[in-house]
Amino acid sequence: MMASENNSLIHRSDYQPLAYLITDIALDVRLDPENTEVTARLHLQRQSPEPASALHLDGEGLELLEIRRDGQSLPETGYAVDGSGLTLFQPEQDFVLETRVRIHPAANLALSGLYHAGGHFLTQCEAEGFRRITYYQDRPDCLARFTVTLHAPQKTCPVLLANGNCVAQGNDPQGFHWARWEDPYPKPSYLFAMVAGDLAAMRDTFTTQSGRQVALEIYVAERDLNACSQAMDSLKRAMRWDEVVYGREYDLDRYMIVATDSFNMGAMENKGLNIFNAKYVLASPETATDTDYQGIESVIAHEYFHNWTGNRVTLRDWFQLSLKEGLTVFRDQEFSADMNSRGVQRIGDVRRLRAAQFPEDAGPLAHPVRPDAYSEINNFYTATVYEKGAELVRMLHTLLGKEGFRRGTDLYFERHDGHAVTIEDFVEAMEDANHADLSRFRTWYAQAGTPLVKAHGVYDPKAHTYTLTLSQSTPPTPGQPLKEPVPIPVRVALINTQGEKAALDISGAREKVLVLEEATRTWTFQNMPDPVIPSLLRGFSAPVRLENPLDDQSRSFLACVDDDPFNRWESIQELALKSILAGVQNPGTVQTLPSALERALSATLQDGAMDPAFRAELLSLPSEDYVGEQMAVIAVDAIHQARDALLSIIGNHFHGEWLNLYHDLAAVYERDGLSIGRRRLRNMALSYLVYSDRHRADDMTLHARQQYVQADNMTDRLAAFQLLVQHPLHDAEDILMDFYQKWQDHPLVIDKWFAIQAMAPRADALRHVQYLLVHPAFDWKVPNRVRAVLGAFTMNHTVFHAADGSGYAFFAEQIRRLDDINPQTAARLATPLSRWQRYDEVRQKAMTQALQKLAAKPHLSRDLAEVIQRAYPGAA
Ligand code: PHE
Ligand code: ZN
Repeated sequence: MMASENNSLIHRSDYQPLAYLITDIALDVRLDPENTEVTARLHLQRQSPEPASALHLDGEGLELLEIRRDGQSLPETGYAVDGSGLTLFQPEQDFVLETRVRIHPAANLALSGLYHAGGHFLTQCEAEGFRRITYYQDRPDCLARFTVTLHAPQKTCPVLLANGNCVAQGNDPQGFHWARWEDPYPKPSYLFAMVAGDLAAMRDTFTTQSGRQVALEIYVAERDLNACSQAMDSLKRAMRWDEVVYGREYDLDRYMIVATDSFNMGAMENKGLNIFNAKYVLASPETATDTDYQGIESVIAHEYFHNWTGNRVTLRDWFQLSLKEGLTVFRDQEFSADMNSRGVQRIGDVRRLRAAQFPEDAGPLAHPVRPDAYSEINNFYTATVYEKGAELVRMLHTLLGKEGFRRGTDLYFERHDGHAVTIEDFVEAMEDANHADLSRFRTWYAQAGTPLVKAHGVYDPKAHTYTLTLSQSTPPTPGQPLKEPVPIPVRVALINTQGEKAALDISGAREKVLVLEEATRTWTFQNMPDPVIPSLLRGFSAPVRLENPLDDQSRSFLACVDDDPFNRWESIQELALKSILAGVQNPGTVQTLPSALERALSATLQDGAMDPAFRAELLSLPSEDYVGEQMAVIAVDAIHQARDALLSIIGNHFHGEWLNLYHDLAAVYERDGLSIGRRRLRNMALSYLVYSDRHRADDMTLHARQQYVQADNMTDRLAAFQLLVQHPLHDAEDILMDFYQKWQDHPLVIDKWFAIQAMAPRADALRHVQYLLVHPAFDWKVPNRVRAVLGAFTMNHTVFHAADGSGYAFFAEQIRRLDDINPQTAARLATPLSRWQRYDEVRQKAMTQALQKLAAKPHLSRDLAEVIQRAYPGAA
């Protein structure tokens, strides 16, 4: 096993309140890429009159130059320094501690703490980066008022930013200048930020509902100034939405966003000074796809919404992470639903949940939304904490209703503004505001695993009743062998043969939320003169797997008449899934299009009045990942072939329809929702055409080539590019070269160039990915670039999962290398290996060997060690 200090666990049950408060912190930072000096003055205050023998401050990789207590230099007997920080002996009741440390921003490749990248100084403090800047109680329940003074050369760093308001600035000797920032709101250290560099700003203003003017500033490289308008517009929409929907107003006079190419995650909600991965800021029609535009809208909103859910009300400890993330994801999903199409948004949210969270919940990394223990908190920024956490909040919204939910959030903000609280406090506010009892609901936060709900319905033609029995069970997860039932809200309608929703009770309600609290329950609906088909879990009302044993005719019928967009989509997905799984069972046999699926697709293709974005959703096939999830043993190659075969069958069968769509939907680029939907549908038509049989496909790749050349926007250009690069029968070397030459100065576009190649199932795929890693534009230090190759590679199923183990061995080698540079990203990228138990024996062996090899790496990071340890406890 790995060195034991590498995986010592921190337990939720061990929480201890702070012995000392830090009321104020004043930082003075002299920025230099090689050697930066940080002086910190902390005002410490013991909470209890009892004397304390010692006080520990967190610190990592700091070189202590000077230490003073109440102005006096501290003798060496008064403190001790080790790898985890600084311990002060016999600390007084109240005192001022001053430390001066040296750090090395340019050498900070982990991108946690203060780092220097792309010529800019940036910070990332969530979760535990602040301790890499200065000695501190680096935990979220330590709220202090921050004052920050930055010094840097005027020439390379004309812009100096930190949280809050700029209160003074001036010049230092030797070409340096300085700026002082004060944040009036006490905050935890994870929300601290500072930025220095040569940045240009796009500026705007927002007037809040109470009439205050807020300055909005987006900082980017000068040449990107023209690519900020989607971000700025999204910010203003989000600010208004939070006022209207939650009654929440922004609280500072200034809201700043900084974009960088070097960032581990999507973005960070630092108080008044968000730092963003450039991917979620920069967009122009020529460089960004419609999906990119939507990503910006949602991430800008997400970080903005954190100002109330995360910043004003913050976390007591990191086990409560979902308190801010689950709630904020729910808020950003609802915002996007209001800005775009609600049905399409919901389908996308569920797709993401099923693609990332369901597999996580079914594997060795499964953990509750509120975890009980961790070794490295960075490993818990997971789909479970974010996406499943958002589903739990959504269920509360469903159970309490829109008004009840709002009463709950009002009370939550009123009670806890300015405090560091727990998930329990949130649930209690929901309960108290609604006189509701959510005691059983709490199990959702504590229990890992995806519940399976089985439905059984019986229509009694004599009694005119419909009886619905629902039962639930949750499979065991690591450390939780036995599961309890959870309250599952199942939104239901019963649809009669005319396609109408039947009245479910004497009040005439045609839709109801049934709450399945126990293992099994039966509901009987009276006065049903006609047989009905159950439309269950409408809108995906709970994060569960549903087994609703309908025959194909009924599914096809629902696909045509159900007025719930999610279930309409789901009916077609089920039909398509069944057909792909049939192909997997009988590889090589020529499939025909099953009639039920044919009818459902045909109805969708003919319905020209339908929202095109929704139409495109209905016409898309389940992903290979999703198909694999439904199998006991994931048959990688057979799934790939069966899905491609179905694409081709649908392409052929509706060839004329696809061709018409392709031609009819051609349009000059516009950015409104309808145009976006039309582009999506048109590009889907193109992909079916390209996948239609060989003879016709040759023709169709000409269409794709033409579209690639003539497109007036990146959505269309990239769709064609991807088809050409990834189609197994097409040679696209010329197009690869052309694309690179055109976009080589646009890192975000070149990321796409790398990713699409890394996902291409070409015959020489592994060699090609090796070539990508030595391409001059590849950079191990830039996470976006690394993800574009290694992350995308894991989605290239037939290559990553090659039966000879070559994909795994290659991948593990790269993770090993990355771990020395950026452990957080390495650990995250390594997680696909944790799913080894889902594959056949040969692959299992190769995957566990890869894990074993990683476990034996010298200087294994705590991040990666924990992932390996949980993924494969047998790794020695
Ligand atoms: N808190 C960030 C968010 O909005 C995510 C993040 C976590 C960013 C850790 C950086 C580091 O979800
Ligand atoms: Zn967040």
